[in-house]
Amino acid sequence: MNVTVGIMGAGKVGTSLGKYFRTRDIPVSGYFSRTPLHAQSAAEFTQTRCFSTLEELVEASEVLFLTVPDGSISACYQALPVRLIPGKIICHCSGALPAADAFPGIRAAGAFGYSVHPLFAVSDPFRSYRELSDVFFCVEGDPARLDVVLALLKRCGNPVQVIDPSSKVRYHAAAAVVSNHVVALVAESLSLLESCGFSREGALTAIRPLLTGNVTHLAQEGPVASLTGPVERCDTGTVAKHLAAMPSEEERELYRLLSARLVRVAEEKHPDRDYAPMKNLLKENCHA
Ligand SMILES: NC(=O)c1ccc[n+]([C@@H]2O[C@H](COP(=O)([O-])OP(=O)(O)OC[C@H]3O[C@@H](n4cnc5c(N)ncnc54)[C@H](OP(=O)(O)O)[C@@H]3O)[C@@H](O)[C@H]2O)c1
Repeated sequence: MNVTVGIMGAGKVGTSLGKYFRTRDIPVSGYFSRTPLHAQSAAEFTQTRCFSTLEELVEASEVLFLTVPDGSISACYQALPVRLIPGKIICHCSGALPAADAFPGIRAAGAFGYSVHPLFAVSDPFRSYRELSDVFFCVEGDPARLDVVLALLKRCGNPVQVIDPSSKVRYHAAAAVVSNHVVALVAESLSLLESCGFSREGALTAIRPLLTGNVTHLAQEGPVASLTGPVERCDTGTVAKHLAAMPSEEERELYRLLSARLVRVAEEKHPDRDYAPMKNLLKENCHA
């Protein structure tokens, strides 16, 4: 099925996806955007058309991607010409927004709504398309034309998972945990090292091999095989000292909660070991 994709929103994701689709021989009609110059640049970059009206974009496309900021998706959907949308497949790329919330009343309007989320930081409109070939896409939306959306991504060769709309926000939280929350953990480690007398730069240099080695193992082998350290060894003495050494109650709580999550990984790795002493220690230190 060779559907033609049109893109509203010539930003990082819109430009990258359009170019990526073109490299996979998927027809792209072109762009409409808030700033005509941006639509023009994206159209030139992808060798597609720059539309001066939304009507022209919708008429020329069977699948529309609204690659605009999350807060503007519903308004952009509502700006689409009602008479032209029956039969169209309308997608957005937000990780947090279920399609039915983004496109209110879409089925009654005769169109089909989907969220198509690339699990990747798309940082550059003109370079990121080169990094998309392994990127995972999470799709959610109306079962009626789901096969068309999946066929589009299958043609690109990307891994895809369909999820239930009710899981969409939890899915996005999972993405935040593995990206943004890792940033919080690195920031916490650096501030603990600075409190030991390291410079910020020296602290980053010190943790770099540990951090990158850990991420490589985690990404390849998963958490159970990658686990090391005092929680895995059920070394309650060391964990008690770590808790006592934390500079603030908030940091102690962070350490305690993450250690409690690690106990579950350790139990999976060593089902024969008794982690009750570690669980008790972590409960005793709970001040909630
Ligand atoms: N960047 C990422 O890493 C990433 C990853 C996964 C998913 N997403 C999702 O992808 C979507 C787009 O994000 P982005 O990072 O590409 O944002 P972006 O770079 O800021 O681009 C957004 C584009 O939307 C256009 N726009 C805004 N309001 C508009 C309107 N009313 N009508 C037409 N065009 C409008 C802007 O137009 P002009 O430039 O023409 O003014 C801009 O080019 C969001 O839903 C985001 O959650 C982003």
